[in-house]
Amino acid sequence: MDRAAFGPEFKWGMAISALQHEGAYNVGGRSASIWDTFLKRKGKIEDLETCGFYYHFREDLKVLKATGAEHFRFSISWSRLFPEDSLAPNLIAEKFYSEIIDTCLDLEIEPWICLYHWDLPQYLEKKGGWTNRKMVNHFADYAEQVHGMFKHKVKNWLLINEALTFTGAGYYLGIHAPGKRGLRNFLPAVHHVLMAQGRAFRRLKTNEPSSYIGFSLAMLPIEVQGISLRKMQAKERIDCFFNKLFIEPVLGKPYPTDKLPFLKNMKKYVKAGDMQEIHCIPDFVGVQSYTRLHIKPAWYIPYVKAKVIPAKKLNKACSYLGWEIYPAAIYKSLKALTEYKEMPDLLVTEMGIPLEDELQGKRVEDLQRISYLSSSLEQVEKAKNEGVQVKGVFFWSLLDNLEWIEGFGPRFGLIHVDFKTKRRSLKASAMWLSKFLNTNKVEQLRSVLAGK
Ligand code: GAL
Repeated sequence: MDRAAFGPEFKWGMAISALQHEGAYNVGGRSASIWDTFLKRKGKIEDLETCGFYYHFREDLKVLKATGAEHFRFSISWSRLFPEDSLAPNLIAEKFYSEIIDTCLDLEIEPWICLYHWDLPQYLEKKGGWTNRKMVNHFADYAEQVHGMFKHKVKNWLLINEALTFTGAGYYLGIHAPGKRGLRNFLPAVHHVLMAQGRAFRRLKTNEPSSYIGFSLAMLPIEVQGISLRKMQAKERIDCFFNKLFIEPVLGKPYPTDKLPFLKNMKKYVKAGDMQEIHCIPDFVGVQSYTRLHIKPAWYIPYVKAKVIPAKKLNKACSYLGWEIYPAAIYKSLKALTEYKEMPDLLVTEMGIPLEDELQGKRVEDLQRISYLSSSLEQVEKAKNEGVQVKGVFFWSLLDNLEWIEGFGPRFGLIHVDFKTKRRSLKASAMWLSKFLNTNKVEQLRSVLAGK
């Protein structure tokens, strides 16, 4: 397999997010996000310094370019750009994001802005965060403001990243910020996120019809062993929860209450006209698929009545976070989305693997990453050859970074970061990418990293 198999128009990129990469969390007028508060509560606030992209972005973007990638996805820290509960921008932050964009354009890298990668300003959380219906307008106003600032230079816009992950982990399980739990938080958060997306999409499209606007979904193929009716029904429920809840209403379907009866409680939050507002066909849907899940029926688990069987228990090869290493997940996810006839372009907006990249305290070559990424690309190619309209791949991530509550153990970068010194250095996977993209500028990569 080589790059040519994907065609000349195929987009090759790398992704980062504000909270996971910027650092400088108390610099330049930024105010706290829900993740600052959450990590502080866990005694981990210093983790927010992460890899310091805020200070190193010029060099990091040169490195990106030297790998041969030509697209860069980054997110805006809402509480950096608008540190107070108003739409008066923080000029230091506006300059920072403009400089990132200009550096991309100078290097002939196409920027992709993600407007929401989970770091809600704390001042909005004080008003209830995503459980508050007013968030719909807050988000649409914020999105419109940022788009207005940069739309003359940036064509590509990703509204909301992986809605299920942050509503599920942050508003149902309480294991991510803001640490809320239960259906009474989860259901309104889901509904308001979907409405916010629809409202923002329409406003941005009206303001600039040539903008290319979408959002990204976390997709998880679901497997069950055996074919009894009970097992198949459990599989359908979990599949619906993970893979359909956030896409079907966008495509104009109702909430899937037939498969997930607990969604009937959603009617408390749904007002006349809401489902029409949620229904909007974006320009693209971003697909992010890191593994698959094995499940089994379990009557005692609330609502979904099924539970996950850890991949290790099934003797599957696993990555650092216990996720099964399963490159076909991306193929299955792309194919599943293509089943919907209204589906627009698809883009793999994240693809990566968490590894320790160390053995007994010493760095080792990330050959497992190369093997995972190249097998995953074969799966994307397979889907493309079968007619799936997949337009590009973004690797997660350009740099090692803060993996949310998991901290710095799992490394996702193609570029290694020493978190103490912030020194960047090459991993074997970055060299592989440079070869794969036919640039073979490994020497150039080395000299950019050495600051020459
Ligand atoms: C995604 C998320 C990223 C990154 C990645 C690896 O869900 O958008 O921020 O953390 O997973 O776990």
